Amino acid sequence: MEKFVVNGPCRLNGEVKISGAKNAAVAILPATLLVKGVCHLDNVPDISDIREYVKILKSLGSKITYVTKNELIIDNTNVTSAIASYDLTSKFRASYYLLGALINRFDDVQISLPGGCNLGARPIDQHIKALEKLGATIEVKRGNVYATKKSKLIGTNIFFDLVSVGATMNAILASTLANGVTTIDNAAKEPHIVDLANFLNSMGANITGAGTDTIKITGVEKLVPNSIYSIIPDQIEAGTFMVAAAVTKGDVTIKNCIPKHLEPITAKLKEAGVLVDEVSESSIRVRMNTAPNAFSIKTMPYPGFPTDMQPQMCVLLSMCTGTGIIVESIWNSRFQYTDELLKMGADIATHGSTAIVKGIEKLYAAPVFAHDLRAGAAMIIAGLVAEGKTEIYHIYHILRGYENILEKFNSLGANITHEKDDSEGDLNG
Ligand code: EPZ
Repeated sequence: MEKFVVNGPCRLNGEVKISGAKNAAVAILPATLLVKGVCHLDNVPDISDIREYVKILKSLGSKITYVTKNELIIDNTNVTSAIASYDLTSKFRASYYLLGALINRFDDVQISLPGGCNLGARPIDQHIKALEKLGATIEVKRGNVYATKKSKLIGTNIFFDLVSVGATMNAILASTLANGVTTIDNAAKEPHIVDLANFLNSMGANITGAGTDTIKITGVEKLVPNSIYSIIPDQIEAGTFMVAAAVTKGDVTIKNCIPKHLEPITAKLKEAGVLVDEVSESSIRVRMNTAPNAFSIKTMPYPGFPTDMQPQMCVLLSMCTGTGIIVESIWNSRFQYTDELLKMGADIATHGSTAIVKGIEKLYAAPVFAHDLRAGAAMIIAGLVAEGKTEIYHIYHILRGYENILEKFNSLGANITHEKDDSEGDLNG
């Protein structure tokens, strides 16, 4: 097994440059399939989820050239297949965007049911609702999703039962080239939704209202790529480094970010007594020199507090001068990581979607698992402030969504190594 070994405690100081947004990139890469031509993307994060998506697109017939590790030229002129292999698409959640992207171009589309982080049930009923309302026929059987159409999709009104990032993205992808107007109500408003709409509009799509809860898509005949499109900075990566700076009582400037996207995180950190200053339109400075005040969080769709920052904030709350409460309202199982923090001396009691977190003096190094991508980031943050060597296993989760995470943390003064571990033992005994 591979592991990260985090030598703590340390204080983070200096500057870190944020990479492109994973959750925008995993929608924009399949969105290039709407074009029978060449798309040029920049600021694409060099992470395993993107490398997996490149494999999927190539398996469908895309020609993909890496200009740099973050700049891609994707030629979908000769995409001939709409059957994405189970092996490739079952590995992560965002493969379901292939449904919305391919159903315009092909009458029969097949992908596996999506995989992704283990956060509890991950249904796709809202995706199916949107595609069926547009005129597609969807069948889910033997672990695959089959989407078929007899004629061009027809614009319609879609009212989502709940706010879903993925279903909103898929509805935008499927309606961009449909006949007529589609409105999406109760839409997700995350920055990556806006980025997808901006990318499609840059090629001639007609999408308005992205970032609000009602999005209007007027179908167009075809899209024509023009200039290079640069993906937005990653809101959650930026937030992760903001929290790490606060937990280690450091002084870190986060560069290449969009402060507006970070407002729910900034507001909560300021409540905790963290000093957060907007240094420029693309950088934020985070400083902390005392223990944080207790605070409470309820995760909500954007612009509420992001669920993808919940584990990281729990580490900060564990070091507070009181007791705080975290309510996870998006996922029904996103507290597994608290078992790992308990091994490090944290005082956390979870009851269903609620965690009661009592502040403690210090955390102690221990061997821990990364249960999912953001939980893994939380383990790194805990290791930075814990006494001793924290060993983090199942680091493949972390490498899915954070580009050069060790280099970035070590450039700020951390001491983290990536090691092979010969022990086959199960850490849970
Ligand atoms: C996206 O997942 C992100 N992943 C997740 O980030 C993030 O946690 C989530 O949005 C919420 O912000 C990507 O963008 C690739 P949802 P998604 O559809 O689209 C329920 C990370 O760490 N739901 O907004 O799968 C669902 O069960 C990952 O980067 C339905 O009931 O999330 C959940 O309770 C982890 N039916 C809620 O809606 C559906 O058809 C929100 O899910 C779809 C969703």
